Amino acid sequence: MVINAVERKIEQYVSELGDHYVSSLYRKLPHGKRLRTKLILKIAGSDLKVIKTAATVEMIHAASLLHDDVIDDANTRRGQISVNASEGNKTAIMMGDILYSKAFFELIGISPEVAKVVSNAVVQLSLGELADVELSKQFHTNRDAYLKMLYQKTASLMEASAESAAILAGKPRVAYRKYGHNLGIAFQMIDDILDITTDSKTLGKPALHDFVEGKVTLPYMYLYEKLDASEQKKLVSLHRKRLNLQDEQWIKSKMAEYHIIEKSYAEAKVLIVEAITLMESLGEKDLSNIAKAMIEREF
Ligand code: FPP
Ligand code: MG
Repeated sequence: MVINAVERKIEQYVSELGDHYVSSLYRKLPHGKRLRTKLILKIAGSDLKVIKTAATVEMIHAASLLHDDVIDDANTRRGQISVNASEGNKTAIMMGDILYSKAFFELIGISPEVAKVVSNAVVQLSLGELADVELSKQFHTNRDAYLKMLYQKTASLMEASAESAAILAGKPRVAYRKYGHNLGIAFQMIDDILDITTDSKTLGKPALHDFVEGKVTLPYMYLYEKLDASEQKKLVSLHRKRLNLQDEQWIKSKMAEYHIIEKSYAEAKVLIVEAITLMESLGEKDLSNIAKAMIEREF
C-alpha cells in the first residue's frame, strides 16, 4: 500500500538524524488516522515527491501535537501516555523541534511552491495555538474569534495538504484548497461535538474535557445563548473546573433540551456537503467519500 511508503519515508528521515533516542521515541508515537496523508495520496497519486510531501506533513503534524500536549499539560495522546508525561516537557519540545526542522529541511528539496504553502500553514498553526491559549483563559461567546482560531489551528494544515497535492498533480489548486479548508473546519467541529457526546473511555480522555481545559467550543456558546440568566451564571462558573457527575449531567441534559448537538452537527454538515459537491463536480469520488465518512465519524 502507498500509505506504507509514507511510513517508510518518515522512518528513513528519522533514522537519517542518526540518534537512537530520537528513533526510539518516534517508534513509540501512536500514528493516528493519517488523514492528511490520505488526502495527499488521493489527490496526487504515488510519485516520490508526493510520498515525501505526505511524510513531511505528518512529521509537522506530529511535532505540533508534541508541543500541544506540553501546552495543554496532557497526560495522554490517542489513548497512550504522551511524550511530555513519560519523558518530560523538555524532551517533548525538542522532539517536536527535531521532527519539525527535519521536515522543513526535506520540504525545501521537494518543491519551493509546496514548501511555501506548507510553511505558511505552520505559521497559521502556531498563531492558532496561541489564540487557543488566549481564548481558553475565560468564558467567552466570540464565535468569530473561535472560528478563526479553529481554521488556523486545524484546517490550515489540511488546506495546505490538499493544495500541495494539487500543485504536485497539476490540478486546480483553489478548488482542492477549499476542499481541505472545509474538511479541516468540519473535522474540528465534529471533534468538539464528540468531546461532549462520546464516553471518556472511548475517547481516551476525561468527559467534557474541552470545557474543563477551558475550551469554549461552539456547542457551549450555543447553549449559553439559550440559557436563562441564572443558568448562564452556572455554566460560566463551571468553566475550567473539574466537573462532578452532577454538573456533567446538567450540561449534557441542557444540551439535549436545546438540541445543541443537532445544531452543531448541522453546521459541520453544511461545510461537508459543500466539499462533497465540489469534489463530485471534479469527478473525485474517493475525495467526496472521505468527506462523507467524516460526518459519520463516531470518535
Ligand atoms: C491540537 O489541538 C493542536 C493542534 C492541531 C495544533 C498545535 C500547534 C502548535 C503547538 C504550533 C506549533 C507547531 C509546530 C509544528 C512546531 P487540541 O488541543 O484542541 O486537540 P487535542 O485534543 O488533540 O489535544
Ligand atoms: Mg491538546
